[in-house]
Amino acid sequence: YDTISSGVGSMFKKLNILDEKEKILRETAKEVNFPLTKEDKKLIQNSIDQLTYSQIEEYEKKYDLRPGMGLAFPQLGLSKRIIIIVHEYEDGKFDNYVVINPKIVSNSEEIIAAEAGEGCLSVNRDVEGHVPRFARVTVEGYDESGNKIRIRAREELSIAFQHEIDHLNGILFFDRINKKKPFYSESEIRLI
Ligand code: NI
Repeated sequence: YDTISSGVGSMFKKLNILDEKEKILRETAKEVNFPLTKEDKKLIQNSIDQLTYSQIEEYEKKYDLRPGMGLAFPQLGLSKRIIIIVHEYEDGKFDNYVVINPKIVSNSEEIIAAEAGEGCLSVNRDVEGHVPRFARVTVEGYDESGNKIRIRAREELSIAFQHEIDHLNGILFFDRINKKKPFYSESEIRLI
């Protein structure tokens, strides 16, 4: 890890995020047992901090971060079913979601895609194309204390959950891009 002083007295530890070529990113991550370890809790907090900072221009520059809204533990080199999402639901306002052993328990029929395509903190190159995703999903799993939780996500947040849960199953976003026809028109699926 690189240790960076934020200058306000607290220490911000920059995460070591693995590149797509690492084998663990293609493996199925293991179910997590409770209680979580101290290390895992720390890594979750560091992930929330870094994802939040990465979406605030001032800190993104200061800490030289790549903007991102989600991370899955395999990207940190750990085969554990833990995802973290930091969603800017309103200008400058963030919600964070930590889900252990997440499962999509229902989904809309409607399919959407991010018009600009998707990115991933483990994919250090531009990959063009639309990634078809469910417009809405319901995700069940556990919070950090082991309490059962259920989250309904739509639009951008729905895409984020599907992207991160894919990581737990060794799937990267470009696997879902149609190689023969990477772009959809508005009449085929709704682009957001
Ligand atoms: Ni990713």
